[in-house]
Amino acid sequence: MIDAINEMKIYTYPDPVLKTKAEPITEIDEDLQALIDRMIEVMYSAPGVGLAANQVGVLKRLIVFDRNPKEGERDPVALINPEIVLGEDEIKWDEACLSVIDFTAEVVRKAQVKVRGLDRHGNPFDIEAEDLLGVCLQHEIDHLDGILFIDHISSLKRALYKKKLKKMQKEK
Ligand code: NI
Repeated sequence: MIDAINEMKIYTYPDPVLKTKAEPITEIDEDLQALIDRMIEVMYSAPGVGLAANQVGVLKRLIVFDRNPKEGERDPVALINPEIVLGEDEIKWDEACLSVIDFTAEVVRKAQVKVRGLDRHGNPFDIEAEDLLGVCLQHEIDHLDGILFIDHISSLKRALYKKKLKKMQKEK
């Protein structure tokens, strides 16, 4: 596991790991702490404001994100087995994803959410969020269920992206 952590890479669409539902975490041990630390490094170096374990090929219900994504100072948080327990109103947000290269699209999300999970030490942890952070949490929790933001857009737009991706791969 340690080797896998050191050599961590971000998997990109259409890798099947991104379409697979992650399993709940039952043990909070040293390996998990190492995984969290490495995911936070990988997130910031990408750079990104959130990362789900599926994206680095680990099918565990774990996300990391920055609590103040707009501020200058880093405030990384890990959330284990996160669940959206409350969602109110709707907001349209222009989303991108480290696993969906060179593409953004508008997605309809909940405007305010309350998310419940465990912190990195296994203590109950609730977070209420809106705007960028709220959207980020919904996006990352989707990853744990094998859902990408492009699954929320029209099939026409998704087809256009697939076409663009094929073209990019040919040009490589
Ligand atoms: Ni993403």
